[in-house]
Amino acid sequence: MLQWLFFISDVFICYNSREMNSGHSSSIQTILAIESSCDETACAIVQKNADSEVVEVLAETTATSLNKHIETKGIVPEVAAREQLKSVLPVIQHTLKQFAKTQQLNNITTQQLISHIDAIAITTGPGLIGSLLVGVETARSLAMAWNKLLIPVNHVEAHPYANFISNNITTQQPNNFPMLSWVISGGHTDLYYMKSHDKITRIGGKIDDSAGECFDKCARVLGFDYPGGPNIEKLSQQFLENTPENIPEVKLPRPLLHSHDFNTSFSGLKTAFARAYQELSQGGEFDQDTIKQYLAHELQLAVTDVIVKKTQLAIEKYLEVKGVLLSGGVAANQHLSNALKQLTTQKGLTFSAPPLRWCTDNAVMIGSYALSHLELKTSWSNVAVKL
Ligand code: KG4
Ligand code: ZN
Repeated sequence: MLQWLFFISDVFICYNSREMNSGHSSSIQTILAIESSCDETACAIVQKNADSEVVEVLAETTATSLNKHIETKGIVPEVAAREQLKSVLPVIQHTLKQFAKTQQLNNITTQQLISHIDAIAITTGPGLIGSLLVGVETARSLAMAWNKLLIPVNHVEAHPYANFISNNITTQQPNNFPMLSWVISGGHTDLYYMKSHDKITRIGGKIDDSAGECFDKCARVLGFDYPGGPNIEKLSQQFLENTPENIPEVKLPRPLLHSHDFNTSFSGLKTAFARAYQELSQGGEFDQDTIKQYLAHELQLAVTDVIVKKTQLAIEKYLEVKGVLLSGGVAANQHLSNALKQLTTQKGLTFSAPPLRWCTDNAVMIGSYALSHLELKTSWSNVAVKL
């Protein structure tokens, strides 16, 4: 608690003695980014040279209230917002300390430290209103006190920017425009055509449940808590390692597989999954673990088939495309990621998915997006939550 008070009083000392033109070398941009749209509270300090496309992560901290939501079997927005309030200042403070350490900025005041930061980036939406408000109001206060401009960032548009980081070893020429870009998470399954950083058009995606939501709901049918996706992947792996003989064929539907557009629909898949689970369980031939592993495997195959088919269709329509990006929580799924990699390699295109830690919500992607959209810089007084 005392530490917080010192941090806040430091912030206001900065405000009282601020200079109008803070910042350092104009060719390097250093951004402090904050993400608080759901149950993660994250802060990162990222940097890019004006003539480079690659973003470097200088410091990063993420706190999550996931455990609270496991207790309630789902996210209670008010609980998430209260947890954001508890975490936001310690997370920022920890990131600044880490920044001072990695940059060897020893024995300096907070005011001197923040003179190394050019702007603050903040997620303004979409997300849970209470959670967003905590991050946005904190960012506005800091921008006001530190005399920095703010860069408002759309969370969904930012996800693919987790691919444009130098520490991302899977990246192969990620800024290979034009590109196709999938954002697949708990809330989204969106396919974008990225002509450049400024021309990003949604060409298809979910018309009902997202792929992540489908994984989560099916995992719940099997008795697993949120987030269900990692459990589905684990069960599928167990099935492959120990495939039983004579398991009756269950072929889950691939909704909209043959539609001539880029839309996806996963709500029916959940219903078919629940029915198949009931039927196999009633059969009494196989134990519960085997049934769960088998169905999880089939589910992963069904979702992957749809995403791969839609990607193939988009590659055939947009012949000028040079690469495909995958991002969002579901990008952590290695089966999906490998299948897309295989397709793009066959087609002679590049493919990139973020390392696991930047698939789910984080502040690095927010800072990375901001570094490619510096023209969005504005005064703290112009920034508000945008649902
Ligand atoms: O991007 P994210 O952290 O939060 C949202 O913005 O929704 O994504 C969370 C989603 C959840 O639906 C979770 O089940 C899914 O990502 N997910 C996975 C895996 N890891 C997380 N889905 C499939 N396989 C995984 N390994
Ligand atoms: Zn997200």
